Amino acid sequence: MSRTPATFIREGVSLKPFNSFQIEAEAALWTEITAEPDLLRLQDTAAFQQQPRFVLGGGSNILFTQNFPGLIIKVRIPGVTVLSEDDHEVVVRAGAGVNWDELVRYATDRGWAGLENLSMIPGETGAAPIQNIGAYGVELESVFVSLDAIHLESGDKTVFDREMCRFGYRDSIFKKEHKGKYLITSVTLRLSKRPQLRLEYGNLKAVLDADGARNPDIRDVSRAVRKIRASKLPDPAATGNAGSFFKNPVLTADRFHELSERHPTVPSFPAGNQVKVPAAWLIDQCGFKGKRIGDAGVHEHHALILVNHGNATGRDLLDLADAIRTEVQERFGITLVPEVNIV
Ligand code: EPU
Repeated sequence: MSRTPATFIREGVSLKPFNSFQIEAEAALWTEITAEPDLLRLQDTAAFQQQPRFVLGGGSNILFTQNFPGLIIKVRIPGVTVLSEDDHEVVVRAGAGVNWDELVRYATDRGWAGLENLSMIPGETGAAPIQNIGAYGVELESVFVSLDAIHLESGDKTVFDREMCRFGYRDSIFKKEHKGKYLITSVTLRLSKRPQLRLEYGNLKAVLDADGARNPDIRDVSRAVRKIRASKLPDPAATGNAGSFFKNPVLTADRFHELSERHPTVPSFPAGNQVKVPAAWLIDQCGFKGKRIGDAGVHEHHALILVNHGNATGRDLLDLADAIRTEVQERFGITLVPEVNIV
């Protein structure tokens, strides 16, 4: 154990409470950051020189496949601040450690629109831009203004605007060139007081209609999204999971045409001039839904969600994911790419 004035480093910390898959793994070294100066002080410690290092948010998009041999930096930076507000919009900055869904509720309760379709996504605000979280036809990108980040090596602070983040489908520069290089401290979003509801995805409109919401507002939309998610996706508090395990493959129009000739029932969504195919459908067709190998399984209501039924290891889940990838590749000639961060 070592202690510096504001930085506390622990050894041999169980990661089970800190990953939504509820995988048992151990971090050799562990520290928590509640404000920017904590990180600057941490950089002066011997523990910080240990490699590898890993910045952990809510742990809701990660699969630990082994003990972590270096330092885990858990981000707990709190706070939501209104930076500006007028009759049309409000610009809010949230600390990276703010629970995402609490931020959604905070905004939605005040009638600030833009986050309602992103209700109930597990995880913390700082991780949201890394994979440009998305659901029900909306991606974080649409409300994003900027983020503050500190470079782990140099300690330099940079403000990344939307262009610098190079957002894509479940993608950003923080999954590519800047992977593992920065610690995001806060995220700034622009929310609207003149909502333009986005109801075109899946059965969102039907659920609102069934609930009798004839003139829905953003609270109704948030409620409907929560209802759909709760009916399809397992609660990570009860059953370990990390949401969608794979990204939905995006195919060229030609490639999709070929696929739909062979498989006329394949569902699809437009993605610019390409076509997105639900990975869940491909996996479902291969018969994996509800399957289980030991404690690693595929959720019974949704084929894209891998679950830990109790004591699965990260390896068990990875083996199951590999079996799925192989089968989908053989049957459809499509390579599934994990959405979850495998460590
Ligand atoms: N489907 C099946 N079998 C299943 C489940 C779905 O065939 O077991 C087919 C159906 O045709 C369905 C289609 O797949 O219409 C799409 O399913 P769903 O609407 O549940 O969406 P998804 O494409 O599987 C994506 C996101 C989710 C997000 C939903 C809703 C990705 C990787 N996943 O899932 O995000 O909540 O859309 O917008 O893009 C996450 O990223 O962790 C996540 C849960």
